[in-house]
Amino acid sequence: NNLILIMTKPKLLVAMSSIPELVIELLLERFEVEIFDFENATKKEILNKVRGKFGIFCCAWTKIDEELIKNAGPSLKVIRTMSVGYDHVDLIAMKKYGVRLGYTSNISSEAIAETTIALLIATSRRLFEANHALKTDGWKQSLFWMCGRSIRNSVVGIVGCGNIGISIAKKLNTFNISQLLYTSRGEKPEAKTLGGKLVTIDELVKQSDYIIVSVALNEDTKCIINRKRIAKMKSHAVLVNIGRGELIDQGALIEALRENRIGGVGLDVMTPEPLPLDNPLMKMTNVVLLPHIASASIETRTEMAIVTAKNIIAVLDNTSMINELQL
Ligand code: DGY
Repeated sequence: NNLILIMTKPKLLVAMSSIPELVIELLLERFEVEIFDFENATKKEILNKVRGKFGIFCCAWTKIDEELIKNAGPSLKVIRTMSVGYDHVDLIAMKKYGVRLGYTSNISSEAIAETTIALLIATSRRLFEANHALKTDGWKQSLFWMCGRSIRNSVVGIVGCGNIGISIAKKLNTFNISQLLYTSRGEKPEAKTLGGKLVTIDELVKQSDYIIVSVALNEDTKCIINRKRIAKMKSHAVLVNIGRGELIDQGALIEALRENRIGGVGLDVMTPEPLPLDNPLMKMTNVVLLPHIASASIETRTEMAIVTAKNIIAVLDNTSMINELQL
């Protein structure tokens, strides 16, 4: 009797489209790959797709909840998100079902810091407003028209001083700011070297001309920029958020903007995403909105995708995975 052994590859679900071809090829060497974009899919379709998968390759807007993890069944060994944030993943359920979680940590810090500086200047110097005026026949040849505020000589506060916060601080260092403030669980030697002063969040919002939110979203940081803290901000303060929308009480922020209690806001992240077109933020001239693209440079996103793929393979090989979250 001849025994025929048929080896099948484990199944991997890529929960988004537009993944570079070379990454798919890398994954195909070891997996039976199915690409299924969660974006416009129903929950039922998603639950159907995850069943029997070994791994899920996802990103920041792919919600990974207990129902999904449970539904995938015991074959599910790894979820690897192509994002630095993992607030979209139910960590308790991951631990309960013994599924490993990896994220992309420091790869995107530089690209995010570049976008942060761009958003800060675009908001403070009213670049989009000026561009809109020019294109709609509103160009005025008046010297104080479209004036904004400089970054030079200003106090800049960074909420959360992890890898991204440090990359932002390094870039700000070339702008001749008067003081860099930051919040963190403890003093950061790197931030100190850059002249940064560790302060409480309440001191930071009160003293800063520019406030940059770059902290991870979790139960402790949800609405860290709340109504009380918005009320403490300077009337010309510019707030920039490149973390997650839920870090800010958006209702309180809209009120403050309507009443001109703060200078302006630059948001790469908001609640919800995509932001509905009738949201009041859409119509405000002192608000610059970007569609969650802080890390969207080709080089960065390609590297994030390659590392994500390699690390899913690492789990298959039972070797260590870089940037694995210890659950
Ligand atoms: C991240 O990496 O978490 C960014 O928000 C982009 O997905």
